[in-house]
Amino acid sequence: MKRPTAQISAVGRSVPARVMTNYDFAAIGIETTHEWIMERTGISERHIAGPGESTCSMGADAARIAMKRAGVLAGELDVIILSTATPDRLLPATAVDVQAALGATRAAAMDISAACCGFLYGMTLAEGLINSGAAETVLVVSSEKMSAICDWTDRATCVLFGDGAGAAVMRRSQKGRGVLSTFMRSDGTLADLLYRPAGGAATPMSPDVLEARTHLVHMAGREVFKHAVRSMAESADRALDIARINGNDIDLLVPHQANLRIIEATAKHAGIPMDKVYVNVDRYGNTSSASIPIALDEAIQKGLVGEGSIVLMVAFGAGFTWASSVVRL
Ligand code: ACO
Repeated sequence: MKRPTAQISAVGRSVPARVMTNYDFAAIGIETTHEWIMERTGISERHIAGPGESTCSMGADAARIAMKRAGVLAGELDVIILSTATPDRLLPATAVDVQAALGATRAAAMDISAACCGFLYGMTLAEGLINSGAAETVLVVSSEKMSAICDWTDRATCVLFGDGAGAAVMRRSQKGRGVLSTFMRSDGTLADLLYRPAGGAATPMSPDVLEARTHLVHMAGREVFKHAVRSMAESADRALDIARINGNDIDLLVPHQANLRIIEATAKHAGIPMDKVYVNVDRYGNTSSASIPIALDEAIQKGLVGEGSIVLMVAFGAGFTWASSVVRL
């Protein structure tokens, strides 16, 4: 097994107080049922940001919790990496808003855009920065206000997503704790299967874009499902291979929480029984890159894993991107 160089010192999470259940869609004119959503996705409810709750505020709240648990002060942060598909503004990065909110006066700050894989991509970059000596303490924040980019008239997508944030403080490895493997891939030839067609620099916002609703999330659900199952399986295999372990060595699988059926297929492929798989998609929906750190934080707080536990994390998202990692907590 590889000697780790960087570890997750602590994690934190923050989700909006407001909860929207499957039954609440009727009130906004969406023709759906709790049974349809549960059967297809396993989602029962999700948190939705209220007034004043933003990608920055949720991310900063999650970060403060992670930093307190890690015993790290804002002034000790060297780099803040914020993954999001929902930046508060397009310029500058939301990471600098988090930097300002935390008072992290010494920190460089940048956003990364890797959709649902953002946390694992961010963690891998943080590991590299620590490994190279460029940074000692890196904050990885994944914060998503998916409710701001959902098409609330499209029942095939709006029932899937939720808002929330997770964060991790990463530092040099101690006592054998840390990242044992990482794996990242992408395939942009499939970008149009899950995307926001307009509203960026290629097709700036205009009355036509607004009317056509092409600035919102569009998804070919069945295609995405197929690719997700395949790529999550590959990701799990690769992270285990690189760490030179197998499914039996894993204390907990923390997969991206998009859909219970995708999670079950991934666990089955990796030979990990469902009692060793953390699932909270029922309560949060798909929070994109925030889903893994939110789930990891819950699993730690519930005592399911702790220092020394071996955790496999696997993600798939728009791009497509897919990624995985094995860590010893
Ligand atoms: N309620 C009721 N009926 C619905 C709903 C809804 N919310 N949404 C769609 N339907 C209807 C459709 O209109 C369609 O009706 P029709 O046959 O009369 O035309 C029927 O249900 C079947 O639609 P499909 O889209 O084929 O349904 P499917 O079984 O594929 O389930 C779903 C859709 C849940 C989106 C599924 O494809 C899926 O989970 N895909 C993966 C999506 C995903 O996980 N994306 C995120 C991963 S990547 C990331 O996290 C960024």
